Amino acid sequence: MSTHIAAKNGAIAETILLPGDPLRAKFIAENFLDNPVQYTAVRNIFGYTGLYKGKRVSVQGTGMGIPSISIYVNELFRDYGVQRAIRVGTAGALQPEIKLRDLVIALSASTDSGANNIRFGGRNYAPTAAFSLIRTAYDTAVSRGWQPWVGSVVSSDMFYTEDPGEWKLWAGFGCLAVEMEAAELYTLAAKYRREALTLLTISDSLVTGESSSAEERQNTFTRMMETALETAIS
Ligand code: HPA
Repeated sequence: MSTHIAAKNGAIAETILLPGDPLRAKFIAENFLDNPVQYTAVRNIFGYTGLYKGKRVSVQGTGMGIPSISIYVNELFRDYGVQRAIRVGTAGALQPEIKLRDLVIALSASTDSGANNIRFGGRNYAPTAAFSLIRTAYDTAVSRGWQPWVGSVVSSDMFYTEDPGEWKLWAGFGCLAVEMEAAELYTLAAKYRREALTLLTISDSLVTGESSSAEERQNTFTRMMETALETAIS
């Protein structure tokens, strides 16, 4: 039991998948895990533990944005001994060659967030994924014929920005996509000496203004989940 997660000791697996949406966590538990058991529903942020190919894996919502994921990941690492956390989410493409439904593996996460500004007193920290997870996720995706993009993303505090062209700054420095959580996940993994990874499906493009339908997202979601689960049990 921690402040925001009502789980008993040992109820959460050492490896966890982290979608933003708690109903997505429920969907993943019910459709991808064997014998899922719900361990928390505090604030309707659901968490489940089940089996994937016989190995224990948990899945839990994080909510949207850095302050929200920070609360859950702090408690998962500090209070439940989670060793490996894989975020599965969506992102907006920042490069013209990155198309809707493409899979992005986030090697690093730049951020405009206040969180690392506060934490590091205005110094810049470079939030980075675990190499072992990057390698496994990449090999898994490639072996199934799903060529992923691998590179830096931006974790932004603002979905609705005051300057609609702000993304171009990050794009100009090679960032592949924008989402809202990876930088905090990677920073906390470094602090607690754990492993973290972020896999993203492109749901919209800031370059073209298009966005994908829920139906289209479902197919690519399955590819991302298979990549995440194979990486989780590797
Ligand atoms: N911005 C921020 N986060 C996102 C986006 C976006 O355009 N798309 C999906 N997650």
